[in-house]
Amino acid sequence: MSNGSSPALQSNSGGDIRDRLIIGLDVPSVEEARSIVSRIGDAATFYKIGYQLGYAGGIEFARELIGQGKKVFLDLKLHDIGNTVEAGVRSIARMGVTFLTVHAYPQTMRGAVAGKAGSDLKILAVTVLTSYDDSDLVDAGYAPVPAAELVAKRAEQARDIGIDGIVCAATEAQRVRSIIGRNRLIVTPGIRPAGADAGDQKRIVTPAEGIRLGANHLVVGRPIVKADDPRAAAEAIVQEIAAA
Ligand code: C5P
Repeated sequence: MSNGSSPALQSNSGGDIRDRLIIGLDVPSVEEARSIVSRIGDAATFYKIGYQLGYAGGIEFARELIGQGKKVFLDLKLHDIGNTVEAGVRSIARMGVTFLTVHAYPQTMRGAVAGKAGSDLKILAVTVLTSYDDSDLVDAGYAPVPAAELVAKRAEQARDIGIDGIVCAATEAQRVRSIIGRNRLIVTPGIRPAGADAGDQKRIVTPAEGIRLGANHLVVGRPIVKADDPRAAAEAIVQEIAAA
């Protein structure tokens, strides 16, 4: 939805460039989240709510954001038996949420695709958590498999099951794109504007690099929500996306 953005913020395809930035509302309370969203104002259109805020009133807050015309990405990384995932996703789809994450297990993904039927909700699959390396997979009981191979296998399964997109590091985006094709989404965290504190992120890229590597949407948390001026930080990233 375009809410009166300037022509400079229109993408080639006519969409609103601001939609390509998803701000991670990784804060402990709805009060804090509401204050950040209000300071950012119309500089951003899309917010991500994960475990921290989600389990502290963030699901209700998601409805509030949607009511204000904002888009919401619920990063709940669902995983359960297919029937339970399907029912949960059906409830989430009714809220008017735009993106929802699930773990890329075939039963879970099939349940999610069934649950969103008839809605505009897009399901994003998380292939292998980026904190896992090859030895963590063995630790979790998998036969030895390189994490990169498991990422590729799960991306193929996600495509074949009809998942709308994949969440991955920008450094994996080109490989994932070659598997899922042009019509599915790639959403990447681990983004840092030049000069910003990396925090605990290891494989970081700038917003411009993330877009050039093929990301459709960038997830940015701390560089915006912890900034002295979150609105200016969001605007600078949107401009960088527009220039890329
Ligand atoms: O503050 P920062 O920009 O690092 O926030 C990134 C967001 O993306 C956080 O909400 C984090 O949980 C999420 N994320 C991530 N890496 C992944 C998957 C999700 O950083 N592989």
